[in-house]
Amino acid sequence: MTAAADEGKILSRVAAPEEAQFERQLRPRTFEEYVGQEQAVASLRVSVEAAKLRRECVDHVLLYGPPGLGKTTLAGILANEMGTTLVTTSGPAIERGGDLMGILTNLGENDVLFIDEVHRLPRAVEELLYPAMEDFAVNFVIDKGLHARTLKYSLHPFTLVAATTRPGMLSAPLRERFGIFHHLDFYSEGELARIVNRSAVILDSRVEPDGAAEIARRARGTPRIANRLLRRVRDYAQVKGDGSMTEDIARRGLDSEGVDARGLDRLDRRFLGAIVDHYGGGPVGLEAIAATINDEAETLSEMVEPYLLKIGFIVRTPNGRRVTREAYRHLGKQPPAATPGQQGLFEMTS
Ligand SMILES: Nc1ncnc2c1ncn2[C@@H]1O[C@H](COP(=O)(O)OP(=O)(O)O)[C@@H](O)[C@H]1O
Ligand SMILES: [Mg+2]
Repeated sequence: MTAAADEGKILSRVAAPEEAQFERQLRPRTFEEYVGQEQAVASLRVSVEAAKLRRECVDHVLLYGPPGLGKTTLAGILANEMGTTLVTTSGPAIERGGDLMGILTNLGENDVLFIDEVHRLPRAVEELLYPAMEDFAVNFVIDKGLHARTLKYSLHPFTLVAATTRPGMLSAPLRERFGIFHHLDFYSEGELARIVNRSAVILDSRVEPDGAAEIARRARGTPRIANRLLRRVRDYAQVKGDGSMTEDIARRGLDSEGVDARGLDRLDRRFLGAIVDHYGGGPVGLEAIAATINDEAETLSEMVEPYLLKIGFIVRTPNGRRVTREAYRHLGKQPPAATPGQQGLFEMTS
């Protein structure tokens, strides 16, 4: 990976280790504190209330959507509101069946097991999950050949909360075993401003309403990024100002970090720039773009494309991605005549 790619990512993509502590501190613990995603929250509140009345666990939940939108946070809230324990793991962390057995057999009654990146569970491990989800039981096979026997081992009832950025990669049998599905979508600027204000209070810093709004505008619809930008602006305000986060300080601080007025960072602009400069605006396949900017197609499809699609800077066509007129305008470049607009419609030019 190039140094430029590294730099682009540090600010906005991958959570740096020192950030983990910070994220924990800012993570909402109750439904009340969780901003936005009203539909998902309202429905989960009902599920939790009903489960508590029946003294049962909540049905298994599948959460999907781009990184940083609050999937892990919701799993924690679910356990907290149930008054049970959250156990956290992830698809790639569970390599062998035995690892999962160990986790499942240690769950307490109505605990919440959170599996992040569930689409990356090894297939053999996934198959162990089926009876666990369905009957709260796991099957042990003992002995071999003629003497092989299967022993059924009962588990405590538990709720599996699984998160994925790529629901399409889940196998049908796994998907069918969830009773509750929620798609988390990008947040509005108003919601992000509320998150920024809430975080500033927790961090004991002062942010002006206009400063919070500016951070929200540049947060790419994503709470994790909003909190990250807040931290950058806080540093900038301390060094270049009197510590108070005004609109002007937010704008200058984020400009200096390479986060532009629409919240695009270097990686976003390299992605768009590659399509424009090397492929005449597209259409071009994701693999070709990835090779051009020396990054991974998976990173681009999970962390870059969703927001660019959302704001209408790119469109997907059967032949690949195309950059829209809005994106050309944002980049300060002249679009070729047949460039699509936000809706992907071709402009008629005479
Ligand atoms: N709805 C929300 N309200 C307030 N803060 C949120 C919300 N969703 C996410 N956050 C903040 O963003 C950070 C990232 O959220 P997380 O749950 O880890 O996202 P995901 O698991 O979807 O990648 C959390 O630390 C939390 O502080
Ligand atoms: Mg997460």
